[in-house]
Amino acid sequence: MFINNWYVAGIAEELAEKPRRVRILGADFVLFRDDADTIHCLSDLCVHRGASLTLGECKNGGIACPQHGWEFNGAGRCTLIPAGTKTPTEPPKRARVPAYPVTEKYGLIFVFLGDQAETERPAVPDIMPEWDSGEWHKGVISRHKDINYMRMAENYNDPCHVHYIHEFAKWLPKGVTIVDHELTDQYVKAWHAAWDAKGEFGESRGLMMEYNVISCVSRNTNYQTDYPPQIVTAYVTPIDEGNTQIHMIILTPKSETTALDGSKVRGSTPEEQKMLVDMTRDIVMDEDYAVLKTTRPRQAAPTTEELLVDTDRTLAQVRTLTVDYGNKAGRIDVRAWREFQDTHIRVIPCPDHKTDPKNWVHKTVPLMPGEAAEGLQAAG
Ligand code: FES
Ligand SMILES: [Fe+2]
Repeated sequence: MFINNWYVAGIAEELAEKPRRVRILGADFVLFRDDADTIHCLSDLCVHRGASLTLGECKNGGIACPQHGWEFNGAGRCTLIPAGTKTPTEPPKRARVPAYPVTEKYGLIFVFLGDQAETERPAVPDIMPEWDSGEWHKGVISRHKDINYMRMAENYNDPCHVHYIHEFAKWLPKGVTIVDHELTDQYVKAWHAAWDAKGEFGESRGLMMEYNVISCVSRNTNYQTDYPPQIVTAYVTPIDEGNTQIHMIILTPKSETTALDGSKVRGSTPEEQKMLVDMTRDIVMDEDYAVLKTTRPRQAAPTTEELLVDTDRTLAQVRTLTVDYGNKAGRIDVRAWREFQDTHIRVIPCPDHKTDPKNWVHKTVPLMPGEAAEGLQAAG
């Protein structure tokens, strides 16, 4: 798990007037809205005596701790210590909790967990330009799985498993070929020519698979010549090493689109869209889960301990660019952290840690030395 990345923390419309706790990278955060409805994300642990701020209430545009009423604004600064001091409106400098940048996109809440300044920070990728067109049916699914997040991400970039794990595709011919490929240090895209609904192979039908390490997002676009295209975008958020929250967005076109061979393809009906969302949530995701929960090791394996073939190229690259990005951005030393998790609070660093490293009550989580390799390994 690594810091200095955008992670999806929830669905924006589900965050109402009550604060909400979310666990990411093994740490707890509180999400809340201020008086102007702007969403904020703070470390969930009060610097007074460690209570969870989520149990408090939104007040004066900030959040008030449930235990002794200390109030914190959206920047994490304590603005009021209502009892126990002679200067309630002048809290000491160290009366602050880390605050993390927040942005909304595709109806989701993204939080930036790391200490990079705004000028160094990557943007949340524009992986779904169709979202704002009004031309696509939209469906959102949020599921928790007790699987490592990279195992999930690799699965979304593995074209071959579809024909074996998923009932809806088991009858299809098994051939899948990579015919195009694009790779940068944070993005990989591969076109897997495959089957059509009649079971015929063709280079204008198949799966476009994309992965961007920024926000840990996979996009699968299923192109057919005789059936509406389907866009399935999946964000994987590491709750901790063994648990993942998946936010999946499913789009199908409302009206006619052009297939890759230039022919016209009809749009999808609302009933077809609903059926696809229901089937994905209630069947397809569980079919993946049934196999992934038994796959070992629990974290992504070193590629030297697997026997990979051509169509595994993309998932191996997903692994490689994640390891490389994590080494640059800062990988959490989970083992060291675990040693004292029950006796000490550690927080994920935020941008204020860089500009003002002193005057914090809670120390930051231990990080691995730069290029140390453990768990995930670069693809050979
Ligand atoms: S623990 Fe939060 S105000 Fe005391
Ligand atoms: Fe699958």
